[in-house]
Amino acid sequence: MIKIAPSILAADFGRLREELEAVDRAGADWIHVDVMDGHFVPNLTIGPPVIKALRPYTALPFDVHLMITNPEHYIGAYAEAGANHILVHQETCPHLHAVLQEIRKHGARPGVVLNPGTPFDLIEPILSEIDILLIMSVNPGFGGQQFIESALAKIRRARERRGELGLQFLIEVDGGVKVGNAKRVCEAGADVLVVGTGLFSTTDYAATIAELRRIGDPPPADPGLVT
Ligand code: DX5
Ligand code: ZN
Repeated sequence: MIKIAPSILAADFGRLREELEAVDRAGADWIHVDVMDGHFVPNLTIGPPVIKALRPYTALPFDVHLMITNPEHYIGAYAEAGANHILVHQETCPHLHAVLQEIRKHGARPGVVLNPGTPFDLIEPILSEIDILLIMSVNPGFGGQQFIESALAKIRRARERRGELGLQFLIEVDGGVKVGNAKRVCEAGADVLVVGTGLFSTTDYAATIAELRRIGDPPPADPGLVT
């Protein structure tokens, strides 16, 4: 079953609580929260106080994507603010294995993120430590960018290695995902779609989420239908 994770980066920040409640009602599975520090990426977004302030308004898991340098200094702060999943970039963590263990110690599900330019095979040694692999299909920093096609091969490779190793981590894809390309992303092997602009720029969130779900989990073909 495909999971849909709206990225609140594309929501109306002036009405963040309402937007959160709206995507919850519309059938989202996770809430994707983009944390940027102006160092690792050239943009600045939100931190623990905003996550903590939003926490009472949904029971959905907060999927917190840390685009920050030295994420190991902030694991406790994000876990305490209400992050259920804490995702760190491979590119920011020379001690990646230790950081992933630290996340689990704080009671959150650990995930690792790969930039478009980072090969999948680099994280082979830590695959057994993660619950989530987030494959970036744009360069991190901004919403509304165009999907980078080479992400598809990386998704396929991750799916293949996961099967070979008998592991269970979920494959999540982030950046430029929308109704128009979701089929290719799902066919490549995605389990979770992060959708920012592709959802919040539409007028009917429930209809968009339902459409993404139908694309990800197509109904079985009618056996009576001759094609
Ligand atoms: C990019 C962020 C993404 C982004 C997704 O740095 O990690 O989560 O907000 O937004 P869209 O779907 O607009 O690319
Ligand atoms: Zn993200």
